[in-house]
Amino acid sequence: MTAWQPDSWRERHASQQPQWPDAASLGEVRKTLVGLPPLVFAGEARNLTADLSEVCHGRAFVLQAGDCAESFDGVTADSIRDKLKVILQMAVVLAFSAGVPTVKIGRIAGQFAKPRSAATEVVDGIELPSFRGHMVNDIAFSQGSRNADPERLVRAYQQSASTLNLLRAFTKGGYADLRQVHIWNQEFIAASPEGKRYQSVAEGIEAALRFMSACGIPLDAPALHQVDFYTSHEALVLDYEQALTRQDSITGQWYDCSAHMLWIGERTRQLDGAHVEFMRGIKNPLGCKLGPSATPTEVLELCNTLNPDRISGRLTLISRMGADKIAEHLPPLLTAVRDAGHPVVWECDPMHGNTYTTAAGRKTRHFEDVMTEIDHYFTAHQNAGTWPGGIHVEITGDDVTECVGGAEAIRDEDLERRYETMCDPRLNGTQSLELAFRIAERLSV
Ligand code: PEP
Ligand code: CO
Repeated sequence: MTAWQPDSWRERHASQQPQWPDAASLGEVRKTLVGLPPLVFAGEARNLTADLSEVCHGRAFVLQAGDCAESFDGVTADSIRDKLKVILQMAVVLAFSAGVPTVKIGRIAGQFAKPRSAATEVVDGIELPSFRGHMVNDIAFSQGSRNADPERLVRAYQQSASTLNLLRAFTKGGYADLRQVHIWNQEFIAASPEGKRYQSVAEGIEAALRFMSACGIPLDAPALHQVDFYTSHEALVLDYEQALTRQDSITGQWYDCSAHMLWIGERTRQLDGAHVEFMRGIKNPLGCKLGPSATPTEVLELCNTLNPDRISGRLTLISRMGADKIAEHLPPLLTAVRDAGHPVVWECDPMHGNTYTTAAGRKTRHFEDVMTEIDHYFTAHQNAGTWPGGIHVEITGDDVTECVGGAEAIRDEDLERRYETMCDPRLNGTQSLELAFRIAERLSV
């Protein structure tokens, strides 16, 4: 293998890259990005690796959640706050039921680029480039909107910076207070159509808080008042990721300072491809999606390439098989990785294998398919004697109607009411919390 450099990926084939209009404007933008400050620090990425190492050892659970694609238009303080709020609420329910801390990672502050199955989209006989996320082009169906515009890379950086700034303020400034999060959960239970079903979990948390207080643990202690919240996105547009890759002054190692954690998507995980080459050299904790076609041999090669030193917490494998495929396709991967002794975090993405299109042409997912995939995931880990490390979900705090099912019984015809996603359908706030409570039920049996 040749020596890694921040640009050694350029020797390999990079799939899913935008067709930029000209090299000169891209060059200018790259120069601008190289001159901008890092969004996150190497030390923070190392802290996340340490937290994920706890997941590796079965001593923590990870919740990675957020939009399929963030929007430049949707970055309001309210929408960021509401997304964070749901993630914090889910995290408390999961921590209580799993009996271990929840590591919280948002698909946020940088999730602006999308891989596409088709390079173009045809509407009424007109063919235009596909929408590839706000980092690249716009969703409106016109030639002008769909042309890739490198200036958008700088805008993505700025949007990430302001989102991150707000997240840091919320998570360290008291918004994440445990008692407050618990009150929100109680309110959810009071308002939810299926609330009573989850009453016992909330009562358990209430009793635990009383017990802690009785033992003299102050509930306003910093550990219960602030949380660590990390950012992540798919490292897709490599010109952007390279420009934000910096050498850490303390260790001399390279970190991609666009987010704490980066992942490789299902469409870009080729062993000889540019994405694997780029990611193997940065020291951030990494994720890699694994769809139903992933073979044990391929997965072991990914482990060897992305984590040759077998550092625990370095590599998270995110299975996204589909409810009807996971029982067959996940177990051979679990046993192969287990038997090879690779320290990995396993996450279940129960979203991307369960997408389908309704008769009216809306992309959706059924809440029960999502739950079924998670159910099979827990069973597969139980059988393999491995730790079901966490879940990776597409959610929003908003009251959208994008996924069908759930306690509100959202139907196909309801999807028209509030379908706002930039890409894949997300669980709304109620469905997300319901998912956390259903997992809590699953963990307690
Ligand atoms: C995603 O996470 O939004 C995504 C595109 O996933 P995958 O690479 O698993 O298809
Ligand atoms: Co998606």
